[in-house]
Amino acid sequence: MKGIILAGGTATRLFPLTATTSKQLLPVYNRQMIFYPLNLLIKAGIKDILIIVAPEHSGQFLNLLGSIFDKFDVHLEFKVQKIPRGLADAFILGRDFIDEGNVTMVLGDNIFEDDLSDKIKNFQAGGMVFAKQVPDPKRFGVVEFDENNQVISIEEKPAEPKSDWAVVGVYTYDKNVIEIAKNLQPSERGEIEITDINKEYLKRGQLQVGKLEGAWLDAGTYDSLLEAGNVVKERKIYENFDPMINEAIEIFNEELKAIAKKRLK
Ligand code: G1P
Repeated sequence: MKGIILAGGTATRLFPLTATTSKQLLPVYNRQMIFYPLNLLIKAGIKDILIIVAPEHSGQFLNLLGSIFDKFDVHLEFKVQKIPRGLADAFILGRDFIDEGNVTMVLGDNIFEDDLSDKIKNFQAGGMVFAKQVPDPKRFGVVEFDENNQVISIEEKPAEPKSDWAVVGVYTYDKNVIEIAKNLQPSERGEIEITDINKEYLKRGQLQVGKLEGAWLDAGTYDSLLEAGNVVKERKIYENFDPMINEAIEIFNEELKAIAKKRLK
């Protein structure tokens, strides 16, 4: 299983914070946001991770992550997305990286309280997504379930949502996702939609949708960024980090301190 983190985009809703850095490098309590999706993938045993970034932030991502896992068995690759073309573009940009395997893609600004490791580890084929009940389903991909929890439909940002179950930003697929993504037509907002990938797997009878129980936060606005920090602090979500990530961050911090000390001399 390979991993992809989508950390491109311009994050206009967070201007001017994102005039100087990437949204996914902003702090969520005591860690940069990017460590949350990284943690999700690493905890699920994924060791090859592609991070898709915007051109103007590639250097900053390298400064933070370029060597942080050198002493550990995790390999990061970076790819620049020149123009944001939609979430499904991750599978086209990452086609050589995915190669013949399965892949889990996480949105760089999504934070999950549920531990999805086992579900991702046990994934075999087809597609697997997760849903969470939200007060404002019109903003999301929406899943409709029947009384036996079978998926009836999935719609992207419907004007009249058929349920309040939103599709969250972690998606696991088999290698067929590359061909499916390549054949997508852009939607009205000019993007190739991940919802259309899910609809294709649903049509093939190969889509599983799990229901989340814990908090799901997407830190894309001032309020949700603040809320994410507060929830992470209150529920100590950072304590659930894979010990390897915490160790890597600790080593990195010590290196930074040593460099700072030298400069002061
Ligand atoms: C995207 C997807 C949507 C999904 C959401 C999760 O929306 O298109 O299906 O529910 O992410 O955050 P966007 O953030 O592009 O509006």
